[in-house]
Amino acid sequence: MNAQDPSNQSPKDWSWPFWPIVPLYPYGKRRTLRKEVVKDSIWTFDQLQGVLYVVTPIRMTAIKLDAGGLLVYAPVAPTPECIRLVWELVAEHGEVKYIILPTVSGIEHKVFVGPFARCFPEAQVFVAPHQWSFPFNLPLSWLGLPRNRTHVLPAEPSKAPFTDEFDYAMLGPIDLGLGAFEEVVFFHRRSRTLLVTDAVISVPEDPPDIVLLDPYPLLFHAKDDGFDVVEDRTATRRKGWQRIVLFTLYFRPSALAVIPFGQAIRNALNAPERFRKTYFGLFPFKWQKDWKRSFEVLVGDRPLFVAPILQTLILNRAPRETLDWAYQVASWDFQRIIPCHFAAPIEASPYQFQQAFQFLKQKSSGSADGETHQTPCLADYTLLQEIEQELNRRGILPPSQGIEEEK
Ligand SMILES: [Fe+2]
Repeated sequence: MNAQDPSNQSPKDWSWPFWPIVPLYPYGKRRTLRKEVVKDSIWTFDQLQGVLYVVTPIRMTAIKLDAGGLLVYAPVAPTPECIRLVWELVAEHGEVKYIILPTVSGIEHKVFVGPFARCFPEAQVFVAPHQWSFPFNLPLSWLGLPRNRTHVLPAEPSKAPFTDEFDYAMLGPIDLGLGAFEEVVFFHRRSRTLLVTDAVISVPEDPPDIVLLDPYPLLFHAKDDGFDVVEDRTATRRKGWQRIVLFTLYFRPSALAVIPFGQAIRNALNAPERFRKTYFGLFPFKWQKDWKRSFEVLVGDRPLFVAPILQTLILNRAPRETLDWAYQVASWDFQRIIPCHFAAPIEASPYQFQQAFQFLKQKSSGSADGETHQTPCLADYTLLQEIEQELNRRGILPPSQGIEEEK
């Protein structure tokens, strides 16, 4: 039976009862889309997350081991549908042997590992070192990770049980004041595939398939203001998607005016679509005519790049360490990258991977002289810079560091 056949599905299959732990759209219902990336060898499982219809894909990847069985990188929500899709692979290729939690800071990835691991009692769980939980440093078992079969990834990859097939490299921990950023990327030698969590992304011009399963969020954000009524067309979906990307990556892009709350309420009372689904006509945004330029500048013709929040608030705390890590990763001979967000797989070379981190060679956005930026659309970084400055001022975030010398 093909679990992705719509006739075999019901909303119960998409149920994720623990959504209040990380209350992101689509809350208690999560669809899962499995794709075979390399025949009989690599599969991605896409779900959605977001708030206020700002939806972005979140992804786990399963790789078949040479001796049979599967390694799962960055589990997503183990809904009945998701687990059934994994079981189909298990029936054909063997048990889930290893589950990898590759991040310390990505709560949207951490939250699923414990519940996912409980569905596969034979699997050994390996977690990135230096795990922390805001506001308290809780033991791993408190995060729902199985006590008897959870291990910290060895600092030396040759000591991991899957060392014959995988290499890995850790970025961090990078001290962020309240916690730390850390990510572990995996290199699967046989398929020449790099698995990445958050460090790089590739943003497609058109909405990914998982977003198209329910296009309403795309149509919602395609509206120019609360009075707009949009038709469901390909171009409208693309417009909604590109704005969602700008929201996700900048929080408040420069081409977006946020309407004062009182005005938004008054507009809602006169809006043409006042249903629960449309937040009763509440649409506190107004896009400027040239909004698309922000998307074009952001994405450009780059096959992959580092998300603005990582550029502005995180990786520029440790530029030398990040670049060294990027050069180490680029020494592996990969031909594709599978990140946990946005597009995948990306056909990209080690050189392109390392190029994505070259912004670190310029002065960081928060530097005292204010100079910076790989990205010319400076205005889009305004909110992120304000956040950085405020966190700096309060002494919460360590200062950014510049780096100028060539390696
Ligand atoms: Fe993430």
